[in-house]
Amino acid sequence: MNELRLSSEKRLRLFTGRGFPELALEVAEQLDVPITPTSAYDFANGEIFVRFEESVRGCDAFVIQSHTAPVNKQIMEQLIMVDALKRASAKRITVVAPFYGYARQDKKHRGREPISARLMADLFKTAGADRLMTVDLHTAQIQGFFDGPVDHLFALPLLADYVGKRVNRSKLAIVSPDSGRVRVAERWSDLLGGASIAFIHKTRDPRIPNEAITGKVVGDVKGKTCVVIDDMIDTAGTISKAVDALIDEGASEVIIAATHAVFSGPAADRLRNSKVSEVVVTNTLPIAEANRFDKLTVLSIAPLIARAVKEVFEDGSVTSLFDGHS
Ligand code: R5P
Repeated sequence: MNELRLSSEKRLRLFTGRGFPELALEVAEQLDVPITPTSAYDFANGEIFVRFEESVRGCDAFVIQSHTAPVNKQIMEQLIMVDALKRASAKRITVVAPFYGYARQDKKHRGREPISARLMADLFKTAGADRLMTVDLHTAQIQGFFDGPVDHLFALPLLADYVGKRVNRSKLAIVSPDSGRVRVAERWSDLLGGASIAFIHKTRDPRIPNEAITGKVVGDVKGKTCVVIDDMIDTAGTISKAVDALIDEGASEVIIAATHAVFSGPAADRLRNSKVSEVVVTNTLPIAEANRFDKLTVLSIAPLIARAVKEVFEDGSVTSLFDGHS
C-alpha cells in the first residue's frame, strides 16, 4: 500500500512589492530566506498586475512594502499581492508595512472627514491579511483598527542606542515637537539615564496640510544638547521650526531623531539649511540620493523586522524584542 506522507511544516516565504525592495532584500539576507520571485508591472492606465512565479500554497507569507511616494500605488500593490496570495492558498498572510500610510488620518479633526487609517486596516483585512506588522505607528491605537494581531515594532531602542553613544548624557534634554509625544520622550529619557524633558507647544490649522505653527518651548533647554524626537519627518516644517525655537531658547546643540524619513518637497533643503547638527532616521522608507545630506545618518531597521518575522513564524514572542523598551 502506498503511504501518503503529509508534511505539516510551515514554510516561511518573503514577498516584496516595488516600493522599497532593497529593504526587503536586507530582511531576506538577515533571515537567510530568499524573496519569492514575483512579476509586477503597470498597465498603460496605471492598473497594477502581480503574479508569483512559484507555488505559494500552504506558506506563511510576509508581504513587505514600504508606503513610500506614490503612496496610493504602493498600498494598492500590496493589497493586490495579498489578494493573489489568498487566492493561491497561502496558509497565513502578514502585511509588513514598515511605514503605515495614512496613519496621520486616525480621527476626525472636524466633521465630514474620513478616518483613513481605519479604512487602510479594513482594506488589508478584506484583501485577506491575517496579521499586520509595522514600525512606530503615528498613534498606537491604530493597532485596534485592524481586526487581527498587529505586531507594533519600535525604533526607539535602535535610535536611542545610537544617540546615547554620541551625546554627553549629563547635559541632555529630550524634546517632543508637540504635546502628544511627551510619553515617548519619557521612554527616551528612561533609556538615556533620566535626561530632562521639554516639549514644543505646537498648533496647527487643520485646513492647511503640512503647516505647523510652532509656539514656545516648555521646559529648560538652556545650554543643553536637545534631542528632538518624532515619528516622521515629512516636509520637515515641524522639526525645523522646533530646531529654531530650541536654538532661540539657548540650546547648545540640537539633534533630530525620527523613525520615518518621508522627506517630501522641501524637507531635505530645510534640514540641510537648519541649525541642527545631526538628523538620525531609519530606513523604513527609501531616501532618494537628492534627499541625502552630510548631517544625515540612516540606521537600518531590517535587523529588527527580520527578528520580528522570525518570532512570528516560530510562534515566539515579539514583545520579548522590546522588553523594557516598549
Ligand atoms: C505630526 O503630528 C507628526 O508627528 C509629524 O510631526 C508631522 O507629520 C511631520 O510633518 P512635517 O515634517 O511636514 O511637519
